[in-house]
Amino acid sequence: MIKNIFNWCKRHIVLFTLLSVLAIVVFGFVNIQILHMTSEPEFCQLCHPSQGFGPLAEVDSWEHSAHGEAGVSCLDCHGRPGVLGYMKAKLGGLKDTYMQLTISAEEKLEILSNPHENLVPSWHCLYCHSDEGNRQVRSNTKGPMKLVNMRMLDDVVNPSFRERKGLADIMEETFVGGTHFDHSLHIEEFELSCRDCHFGVVHNPATSTDRMNFCLTCHAEMSDDAPQTNDCNICHAAQLTMNQGAGVNGIEEIPGLMYGEAADMTCTDCHTGVTKGIYRPSASTCTSCHDEDYKEVLTEWETTTKKRIEMLKRVQVQVEAALLEADSAKRNTAEVWTLYQNGLRNLKFVRNDGTNGAHNSEYAKAILNQVEDDFTLALTKLDTIW
Ligand code: HEC
Ligand code: HEC
Ligand code: HEC
Ligand code: HEC
Ligand code: HEC
Ligand code: HEC
Ligand code: HEC
Ligand code: HEC
Repeated sequence: MIKNIFNWCKRHIVLFTLLSVLAIVVFGFVNIQILHMTSEPEFCQLCHPSQGFGPLAEVDSWEHSAHGEAGVSCLDCHGRPGVLGYMKAKLGGLKDTYMQLTISAEEKLEILSNPHENLVPSWHCLYCHSDEGNRQVRSNTKGPMKLVNMRMLDDVVNPSFRERKGLADIMEETFVGGTHFDHSLHIEEFELSCRDCHFGVVHNPATSTDRMNFCLTCHAEMSDDAPQTNDCNICHAAQLTMNQGAGVNGIEEIPGLMYGEAADMTCTDCHTGVTKGIYRPSASTCTSCHDEDYKEVLTEWETTTKKRIEMLKRVQVQVEAALLEADSAKRNTAEVWTLYQNGLRNLKFVRNDGTNGAHNSEYAKAILNQVEDDFTLALTKLDTIW
C-alpha cells in the first residue's frame, strides 16, 4: 500500500510537489486563522465576561479605555514583542484554558484580583511610549520581530509609530498629557514603575484625584525648588495656557473670561476646595459669584465643546487611515502629513486641558475650528492626490 503511494508520487512528481505545497499553505493558513481568532477580545470575553471595571471585566473596561479606542489590543500588552513573545503568549493562553477547567470560580477571582506586579513590565510599556525603550527592545529581542502582522505591536517602530498616534516620548519630554512631569527624572531618581501611577491604566483606572494626591505625598512638604501644593501653574501647564488663551501657533490669543487681568482671578478662586483635598469645582462654584443661571453657561460650554471633540476624534481616525492607504499606494503625502499632525497637536491641546471648554470656551472653539479646517483640507488633498 505504502509502496504504491510512493510509486504514484514518483510518477507524478510535479503534481505531488504542487499538492504538498498547497497542503502546507492551507494548513498554515488555517493555523494562522486560529491564532488570529483566539487573540481577539471576543474570544477572551468568553472567560472574562463582566461589565464595568476590575477583575473579570477586563474586556469591557478595555473597550472603554484610551488604549481600546486607539486599537491597542489584549496581546499588544499581554504578549511580549517579537514572534517568540507572541508564541509564548499563545501558550499562556493554553494554560488559561487548563486553569479554567480545573480551578474554582473563587480561585480564579483571587488570581485576577491580584495581578503580578510584572504582568506587564515597565519596559514593555516603554516599547511603545519611548524611542530609546523601543530601540533597546528591538536590539535585545531574540528571533524575528515579525513574520506576518499579527497585532499592532508588530508594527511599532519609533519614532514613527508615536508620531502617527500623536504620543509623546515620555522619557524625553517633560510636558506629557499637558502636565509638567519629568518621567525620566522621577523614575530614575525614585525607582518608580509605571504601575505606581498608572495602575489599572486599562482595567481599573485611578482617578486624577488619586494621582494628584500621590504627587503631594512628596510635593506637599519639600524644598523650595520643587513645586508645592499651591504652585498649580508649574504642574498644570495645559490648564494654565488654556486659561491664558495662548500657546497655539496661528491662533489669535483670547484670554479666559476670568483668568488674569480680565477679572483678576487665579486658579484657587474657582478651585476653592484645594485646602480640603477637593480639587474639582462644580457648577455651584460659578454661582458663588454669579447668578443661578450661570450654571447653564457652564453646561453649555461643556456640552458643545465635548461634542466637537468627539466628532473630531472620529475624523482623526478617518484621516490617519486615508493617509496610510495613500502611503501604501506610494502617493506623495508629505504635505498632508504636516496638516494632519498640526490638527492632531491642536486637538491634543484642547483635550489635555480636560475641562471641555470650562477654562476658556472661546479659545477652545477657535482651536477646534482650526483643527476641523486642517482635517477637512487633508481629506480634500488626499482625494485630489488619487
Ligand atoms: C478558557 C477561558 C479563558 C480564555 C478564553 C481566556 N482566559 Fe485569561 N484567564 C483565564 C483563567 C481561568 C485565568 C486565571 C488563572 C490563570 O492565571 O491562568 C486567566 C488569567 C488571565 C490573566 C492573568 C494572568 C496572571 O498570571 O495573573 C491574563 C493577563 C489573561 N487571563 C488574559 C487573557 C487574554 C488576553 C485572553 C484572550 C486572548 C484570555 N485571557 C482568554 C481563563 C481564560
Ligand atoms: C502597542 C503600543 C502600546 C503599549 C504596549 C502601551 N501603550 Fe499606552 N498608549 C498607546 C497608544 C496608541 C495610546 C494613545 C491613546 C490615545 O490616542 O489617546 C496610549 C495611551 C496611553 C496613556 C494615556 C491615556 C490614558 O489611558 O491615560 C497612558 C497613561 C499610557 N498609554 C500608559 C501605558 C502603560 C502604563 C503601558 C504598559 C502597561 C502602556 N501604555 C502600553 C500605545 C501603547
Ligand atoms: C510618579 C507618577 C508616574 C509614574 C511613575 C509614571 N507616570 Fe506616566 N504620567 C504621569 C502623569 C502625572 C502624567 C500626566 C497625566 C495627564 O496629565 O493626563 C503621565 C502621563 C503619561 C502618558 C500620557 C502621555 C501623553 O502624551 O498624553 C503616558 C503614555 C505615560 N504617562 C506612560 C508612562 C509609562 C510607560 C510609565 C512607566 C515607564 C509611566 N508613565 C510612569 C505620572 C507617572
Ligand atoms: C495597554 C496595555 C493593556 C492592554 C491593551 C490590555 N491590558 Fe490587561 N492588563 C494590563 C496591565 C498593566 C495589567 C496589570 C494590572 C493593572 O495595572 O491593571 C493588566 C491586567 C490584566 C488581567 C489580570 C486581572 C486584572 O483585572 O488585573 C487580565 C485578565 C487582563 N489584563 C486581560 C486583558 C484583556 C482580555 C485585554 C483585551 C481585551 C487586555 N487585558 C488589554 C495592561 C493591558
Ligand atoms: C517620591 C517622591 C516624589 C513623587 C511621588 C513625585 N515627585 Fe516630583 N519631585 C520630587 C523631588 C525630590 C523633586 C526635586 C528634584 C530635583 O529638582 O532634583 C521633584 C521635582 C518635580 C518637579 C520640578 C522639576 C522638574 O521636572 O522640572 C515637578 C514639576 C514635579 N516634581 C512634578 C511631579 C508630579 C506631577 C508628580 C505626580 C505625578 C510628582 N512630581 C511626584 C519628588 C517626587
Ligand atoms: C506637584 C504637581 C501638582 C501641583 C502643584 C498641583 N497639581 Fe493638580 N494634579 C496634578 C496631577 C499629576 C494631577 C492628575 C492629572 C491627571 O491624571 O490627568 C492633578 C489633578 C488635578 C485636578 C483634577 C482632579 C480630579 O479629581 O479630577 C484638579 C482640578 C487639579 N489638579 C487642580 C489643581 C490646583 C487648583 C492646584 C493648585 C492649588 C494644583 N492642582 C496643584 C499635579 C499637581
Ligand atoms: C472660572 C473658574 C476656574 C478657574 C479660574 C480655573 N479653573 Fe480649573 N476648572 C474649573 C472647572 C469648572 C473645572 C471642572 C470641569 C469639569 O468638571 O468638567 C476645572 C477643572 C480643572 C482641572 C481638571 C482637568 C481635568 O483633566 O479633569 C484642572 C487640572 C484645573 N482645572 C486646573 C486649573 C488651573 C491650574 C487653573 C489656573 C491656571 C485653573 N484651573 C483655573 C474652573 C476654573
Ligand atoms: C470668584 C468669583 C467668580 C467665580 C467663582 C466665577 N466667576 Fe465668572 N466672573 C467673575 C468676574 C469678577 C468676572 C469679570 C467681571 C464681569 O464681567 O462681570 C466674571 C466674568 C464671567 C463671564 C463673562 C461676563 C458675564 O458676566 O457674562 C462669564 C460668562 C462667567 N464669568 C461665567 C462663569 C462660570 C461659568 C463660572 C463657573 C465655572 C464662573 N464664572 C465662576 C467672577 C467669578
